[in-house]
Amino acid sequence: MADPIAIAADHGGFELKSLLIKDLQAAGHAVVDLGAHTADSVDYPDFADALAAALKDGRAARGVLICGSGIGISIAANRHRHIRAALVHNETEARLCRQHNDANVIVFGGRTLGSEIARACLPVFLSTVFEGGRHARRVAKLG
Ligand code: RB5
Repeated sequence: MADPIAIAADHGGFELKSLLIKDLQAAGHAVVDLGAHTADSVDYPDFADALAAALKDGRAARGVLICGSGIGISIAANRHRHIRAALVHNETEARLCRQHNDANVIVFGGRTLGSEIARACLPVFLSTVFEGGRHARRVAKLG
C-alpha cells in the first residue's frame, strides 16, 4: 500500500476532489478525505486547517487542497509553519515544487484548472523527490 494522502476541498473543489480520490485509490494510496462531503457552500480556511492538522498529527505526510481558484486555500494552508503548499497549474510546477521547495501540499483551482491537467499533475507531485542541497538551505529559511 502506498503512503496515505490527505485531501480536502471547499465547494469550489468538491467535484475535482472526487476525481482525484479515485485516482489516488487506484494508485494504491489510502486517502484521508477531510471533506467537504457535499457541494454546499463552506469556508475554505476550515479545510486548509483540517488538512494541516492531519499532516501535523501524522495521519498523512502529504496532502491535496482544492478551492475554486486554489488561491484562498493556499493562503490559509501556508499560515501553518509545517505546511509548504504549492498552487500548481502544470506538470512542470508539480515537479519543481517537489524538487526545489519540498512542497508537502499540492493545491489546485477546481474552477480554473482543467481536471485532466490536475489529474496529470498529482502523480508527478507524488513521485518527485526533493533535490536537497542548496534548496534545503532555502527551505530551512522558510522557518
Ligand atoms: C468560493 O466561492 C471561492 O471564493 C473559493 O473557492 C476560492 O476560490 C477562494 O480563494
